[in-house]
Amino acid sequence: MKVWEIGEQQGLGSLRAATRPEPETTRGHAIIKVRASALNHRDLMIIAKRYGANVRPETRVPLSDGAGEVIAIGEGVTDVKIGDRVVANMFADWTEGAWVPGLFGADYGNTIDGWATERLSAPARSLAKIPDHLSWEEAATIASAGVTAWNILEPFGHLKAGDTVLALGTGGVSVWGLQLAKAAGARVIITSSSDQKLAKVKALGADIGINYKTTPDWDKAVLDATHGAGADIVLETVGTGTLTRSINAAAFNGRIGMVGGLDAGQPQLFGLVAKNAVLGGITVGNRRMLVDMLKSVGAAKIKPAVDKVFAFDDMPKAYAYLESAAHIGKVVVRHD
Ligand SMILES: NC(=O)c1ccc[n+]([C@@H]2O[C@H](COP(=O)([O-])OP(=O)(O)OC[C@H]3O[C@@H](n4cnc5c(N)ncnc54)[C@H](OP(=O)(O)O)[C@@H]3O)[C@@H](O)[C@H]2O)c1
Repeated sequence: MKVWEIGEQQGLGSLRAATRPEPETTRGHAIIKVRASALNHRDLMIIAKRYGANVRPETRVPLSDGAGEVIAIGEGVTDVKIGDRVVANMFADWTEGAWVPGLFGADYGNTIDGWATERLSAPARSLAKIPDHLSWEEAATIASAGVTAWNILEPFGHLKAGDTVLALGTGGVSVWGLQLAKAAGARVIITSSSDQKLAKVKALGADIGINYKTTPDWDKAVLDATHGAGADIVLETVGTGTLTRSINAAAFNGRIGMVGGLDAGQPQLFGLVAKNAVLGGITVGNRRMLVDMLKSVGAAKIKPAVDKVFAFDDMPKAYAYLESAAHIGKVVVRHD
């Protein structure tokens, strides 16, 4: 079967095509015929040796996110059956409960082989069934970006209808946040470097768009748009470089879920005290959150924003497109 490998991890040129034997059915694992996979910002970091402990073999198959059909199951597998349409939680062993660092030991596309393959042998405990209304390409976007946005909004953010949610940029996590928040009855403000992208996210339901290039004081613009109240929940997808403004833009008792490593700075944190606001670091989520999110996506019939779909053989082009940041939402690869 065909796979992609991360190679020497010196940047995009390291990605290499390879073939390897079909996976064998083993205890506790399901074999998945992969139908689609999706890219995340961290896949760019992994391929450039800028993510985690950087002890991955050159033969590691990348990508934490994908969707496919179960075609075989090993002994002891009861969670899924042949024919099920599934996605996997990014941390295969984080089924529920609190985060512990040891979970990095089974991280798809990083410490275990990921979804850039025709067939994947996946620990069955990590799998969850996908709602019928989602195409393979749409379902492939869920595991990292979708669950991260869900974790910020729901378990961490305690989102209620009528809340104001602020999402930074129009990448995968932010646009998932927009779609989940709108489905829950929130008002959503989103920022972007591009007016064209803002027009597109407005078509997806965003109530207010702010161009952070032409409006560098975007935090003040958020306060103006909310008559001084600020955002109840902030998806801080950029990093410590924007954190001071995110705190300024937050409401009293607001929740700021921090995930981003795109821009570093020296944030001023006293606003958290003045606002009785909560800043939390978010590490994707557990399988319980994935299952809860899938229920909500199914009930609200959310169609995730897929920007562009590439062919499996064009995987390097998909990486280059993500790196160009021309996308809104998700960059996806179809595995025919
Ligand atoms: N901790 C976790 O569990 C977790 C999980 C998922 C992702 N992440 C992190 O979250 C971040 C976003 O990931 P992603 O996959 O959604 O990325 P992505 O799809 O590549 O999106 C990146 C977008 O961020 C926006 N952006 C960049 N710099 C910005 C700035 N200074 N101010 C406002 N927006 C800015 C840009 O939007 P515009 O083009 O619209 O300006 C850009 O397109 C990354 O750092 C990623 O590593 C962390």
